[in-house]
Amino acid sequence: MSPALGGGLFVLIKCMKENKFEFNYKVFDSIDELPEDMRWLLNEARQVTENAYAPYSNFQVGAVARLMNGEVVSGSNQENASFPAGLCAERVLLASASSQYPKVPIQTMAVSYKSENVKSDHPISPCGICRQTLQEYEGRVDHPVQLILGGMTGHVYVIDTASRLLPLAFTSEELR
Ligand code: THU
Repeated sequence: MSPALGGGLFVLIKCMKENKFEFNYKVFDSIDELPEDMRWLLNEARQVTENAYAPYSNFQVGAVARLMNGEVVSGSNQENASFPAGLCAERVLLASASSQYPKVPIQTMAVSYKSENVKSDHPISPCGICRQTLQEYEGRVDHPVQLILGGMTGHVYVIDTASRLLPLAFTSEELR
């Protein structure tokens, strides 16, 4: 390496710093290990998969949330022959919660799924658009959404704040 290039590299290293994102989440061996209120919510989410309209993917997702006022709201994925028009269970739930109980924070949301094609034996986590929507929901009511993620069987994740799933998010702050 030429002395000139070496000098450039030195300046670059001096000016650069590296950041790291990390967050903790809980892993339970099965639904049976969850506290009673969480177990109830995940069981409801499993049942709500029945309400999905998913003839194209055959992947039925159910979401159930308890709000801070004690109300329970559910959502399931609703697909469309024009595929991009379809909605995920999480966003159906968020739109419903916001419409019925505007400004009431969500305490906890459980998400589950079933499918003819794949085993429902592990958690799935929200897609990118749902992460973005969850992040804004938390921001505008200034309250974290706790997530419980689990299949019909298998281990379960509990994540205390949904927006942890979207580091470096684009937020409404940018538009002010
Ligand atoms: N889906 C959800 O509803 N939630 C998720 O977290 C992941 C994916 C839906 C979208 C689509 O209807 C089907 O599952 C397959 O992607």
